[in-house]
Amino acid sequence: MLNGKKILVGITGGISAYKTASLIRLLVKAGAEVKAVMSGAAKQFITPLTIATLSKNPVYTDFFNPENGEWHSHVKLGIWADLYVIAPATANTIAKITHGIADNLLLTTVLSARCKVMLAPAMDLDMYQNVVTQQNFNILKNRGFLFAEATEGELASGLSGKGRMAEPEDIFAEIEHYFAANQDFKDKKILITAGPTREKIDPVRFVSNYSTGKMGYAIAEELAERGGEVVLVSGPVDIKPKHANIHLINVESAQEMYNECINHFPKCDAAIMSAAVADYAPEKPATDKIKRQPGQNMVLNLVPNPDIAAQLGKIKTDKQILAGFALETENEQYNAQKKLESKNLDFIVLNSLNDKGAGFGFDTNKISIVYRNGKSESFALKPKTEVAKDIAAALLQLLN
Ligand code: C5P
Repeated sequence: MLNGKKILVGITGGISAYKTASLIRLLVKAGAEVKAVMSGAAKQFITPLTIATLSKNPVYTDFFNPENGEWHSHVKLGIWADLYVIAPATANTIAKITHGIADNLLLTTVLSARCKVMLAPAMDLDMYQNVVTQQNFNILKNRGFLFAEATEGELASGLSGKGRMAEPEDIFAEIEHYFAANQDFKDKKILITAGPTREKIDPVRFVSNYSTGKMGYAIAEELAERGGEVVLVSGPVDIKPKHANIHLINVESAQEMYNECINHFPKCDAAIMSAAVADYAPEKPATDKIKRQPGQNMVLNLVPNPDIAAQLGKIKTDKQILAGFALETENEQYNAQKKLESKNLDFIVLNSLNDKGAGFGFDTNKISIVYRNGKSESFALKPKTEVAKDIAAALLQLLN
């Protein structure tokens, strides 16, 4: 399964670095091509010679070879790798990665890596539980870093708790899983709407909402990463898609979003409507800037926008899956179910403004997925990148 895969292993200074030797053996045995990069502290725990011998490649530890001045390019390593696995990843290295610090070759390579980075944290239980470390984990998960989670057990300090690096076999399984699971949306084309829409009042003003597009973009990245071809129809947001499988179509108004969706949906296997489409638009946007009329109220006449999801629900074939979002403030389950039926959706992702840390602008979300048969699944508050995985799982199940 790992035949020909190029795996860069980063080793930082933790006692569990000795286990990384076994991980490298497993990877090489499975047919992967392995290169390793070590931090300065890592060399105190395991020798570069051991790692070089097992990986069958020279080990990179410094920016250049002091003997002949040969430059070790982090850019080249970052482009070479299909996956960069840092095991052990100490609290220090995790904090540095979180803040973009690049004071050794291992870290500069993180910044320039074009592949996914998987972290296998290893640290003492108090460091692990520390709120700073926990926040760093969340930030990195949200940025799409993968984790081979630490386990509970006896730690080098003699204490017992969570913080032990995952066993080499388990990290290996995560790596295999990444490459296997990776392609389960291959040959599937998915339309995703994301972000807010802007409805023009005049050339300089518009009606809109607080949507940032984070949820829709996270779903797009997840599906693209897993081999899907994504058509992302996006309102104005501050993020840019990263994956080459995402075909971005920028729109402004609900009408423009509608036109693109109607055009692309018939060629797609599924659509996920995560955009916060403005329900109304000014009836007649002024062609010139509207002047202030001192002392007078202003009335803005609004007319309904097309309901994109509902229209796609009408033209949907038996083979296509259509999913929507519902952001509710009251009678959440009931309203979601009603929306599901009226728009002819296959499932609806419900998030509530009543949940702390969920909804617009947050990096986290707390969702329930409600299905056509009335069944629903509730999930914990988690980074939107993880929520995207839950939504992908629901979609995949229905597509198959
Ligand atoms: O009816 P409501 O706006 O609450 O429905 C939310 C769902 O419908 C979301 O999936 C949203 O993207 C979609 N929607 C749409 N076009 C609209 C309004 C909502 O596609 N005009």
